[in-house]
Amino acid sequence: MTAGPDGREYGDGTRVVHAGAPERLPGGAFMGSPVFASAFHLTGEDTYGRSGNPTWRALEAALGELDGGECVLFPSGMAAISTVLRLVLRTGDTVVLPGDGYFLTRKFVAEHMDVVVREVPTAGPWPDFDGVSLVLLETPSNPGLDVCDIAALSHAAHAAGALVAVDNTTATPLGQQPLRLGADIVVASDTKAVAGHSDVLLGHVSTTDAVLAERLRGARTVGGAIPGPFEAWLAHRGLGTLDLRLTRQAANAAALYDVLRVHPAVTGLRWPGAPQDEAYALAARQMRRFGGVLTFQLPDVAAVDAFLARSRLIAASTSFGGLHTSLDRRAQWGDPVPEGLVRLSAGCEDTADLVTDVLAALA
Ligand SMILES: Cc1ncc(COP(=O)(O)O)c(C=O)c1O
Repeated sequence: MTAGPDGREYGDGTRVVHAGAPERLPGGAFMGSPVFASAFHLTGEDTYGRSGNPTWRALEAALGELDGGECVLFPSGMAAISTVLRLVLRTGDTVVLPGDGYFLTRKFVAEHMDVVVREVPTAGPWPDFDGVSLVLLETPSNPGLDVCDIAALSHAAHAAGALVAVDNTTATPLGQQPLRLGADIVVASDTKAVAGHSDVLLGHVSTTDAVLAERLRGARTVGGAIPGPFEAWLAHRGLGTLDLRLTRQAANAAALYDVLRVHPAVTGLRWPGAPQDEAYALAARQMRRFGGVLTFQLPDVAAVDAFLARSRLIAASTSFGGLHTSLDRRAQWGDPVPEGLVRLSAGCEDTADLVTDVLAALA
């Protein structure tokens, strides 16, 4: 359900509340209950829990509608990404990866695939794609929050015969629709803002290529790494408030940006939603809205530890996009960034409380 009776496309709040909802039946529930069965009576669509599950399909319908493609659910973002890489690439192929994107994607390719890797920073410069089979973009990139032009890079990649996949985790399906911008594949960790409550691991792939979607479902069935129905149900429940949560998280990020920008202890502040950010012009053109993740630098590890010790509201955590504001020092995980670089994920706390807390923690 994407448009109202007047033909006008529904807004984000309406879209996420109704995405993947069951048919309205007399006495029926607003949202289906999770189905935990391993074996089904062989009279309907479902046969065995590894091949399909009605709770997955409800969330796949929702995310596919929001992404503008066909969605296949996976048990984590990395399961989604690694399955795409394994299906699309053959031994000896060349893949372009973001040198500044999520580090486990590079680690997976380096350690588990026999392909040629070209790493390119998200901000460019981008080389030509001659001889490349797959270009994986991540925009905004994690943790640097640089942005690249999905439409232009998809055009260039397609001209060279390469497929384009976009890791849309940081943006979310409300923030950005890579398939509409020309990409072939979206991969995402729904562990983050989509599920939104720091209690679920989940991921998905969306694509406009029906054959690839079928191959992904087949790989999931025979690979055997499948999403849990309860996780899928929790993520679907969380998705209903994604619009509300992103609105508050972006408002909090904007307020924090304003105070961090002029704070003497802070350098290298990035949030693509701020007009002062170097990526803003491109981000504003290709993104529908912004989220709550900022990146900045404190002088050193001791300054980050002191900040966390003084803050009452911000927790050290290596996830992002949840209800709670959290902070992660990325160098501790091996990201090639300065020791004091942190990613702050603004949560849904009251803006004034959060700003006061951050300023006190920086004092
Ligand atoms: C941009 C990005 N892609 C993929 C992943 C992997 O997702 P998951 O932890 O759900 O496997 C993450 C996790 O932090 C991420 O930040």
